[in-house]
Amino acid sequence: MKTKLIDKLSDISRIHRRAAFTDVLKHTAPKSSEFLNLAGKRYSCRGFDGRPVPDDLVESVLEAARLAPTAVNKQPVHVWVARTPEVLEKLAGATQYLYGAPVVFLVGCKPSDAWVRKYDGKNGAEIDAAIVGTHIMMEVADLGLGCTWVGSFDPAVLAAAFPELEGWDIVALFPTGYPAAQPSSNHTARKSLEEFASEL
Ligand SMILES: Cc1cc2nc3c(=O)[nH]c(=O)nc-3n(C[C@H](O)[C@H](O)[C@H](O)COP(=O)(O)O)c2cc1C
Repeated sequence: MKTKLIDKLSDISRIHRRAAFTDVLKHTAPKSSEFLNLAGKRYSCRGFDGRPVPDDLVESVLEAARLAPTAVNKQPVHVWVARTPEVLEKLAGATQYLYGAPVVFLVGCKPSDAWVRKYDGKNGAEIDAAIVGTHIMMEVADLGLGCTWVGSFDPAVLAAAFPELEGWDIVALFPTGYPAAQPSSNHTARKSLEEFASEL
């Protein structure tokens, strides 16, 4: 009897907490912060105006990538910069999604160097690389540049074109430059906050 009452009370408390969570989403979610503004400003930029990206901006992007956290700080990630016409042409053989960008960042990971979750053997390399890639996207946006995360490329073509990538799994390419294209309609097509997040 006592247990049942406690169960009931905890049910009520869950309902209240859920209601409170929805309330928080509706009324007190931060409407602006520097990061939130940047997150809104970033979009997949698929056209560039042809200006080269200065070296110091390329370095800022690399520095933001370097600062990314990785599981157990294993840092099983590497970033390559492609920007000479010859290298960009070879890269274009592996993907149709370079959008004429003057510089492309490639992010690769080495699963053999990564943390592995002991409970189920899950390898953390791709997650680490995705965080590095996210730092790249956000820094690019903060610098007033644009880029797109490109996952659609042929790894075999890439490997054949660049033997120096041997041993690395390339996770993403980021064609980058000065923006000359608007966001696509996908940029604003997101699930509502209520659908996207919920109280457990
Ligand atoms: C893992 C991943 C892979 C993607 N691959 C490609 C791609 O190969 N080509 C492309 O044009 N966009 C690619 N995108 C961009 C997404 O289409 C884009 O992020 C999404 O439609 C939301 O639009 P937004 O970035 O403008 O907000 C990729 C994005 C992610 C996160």
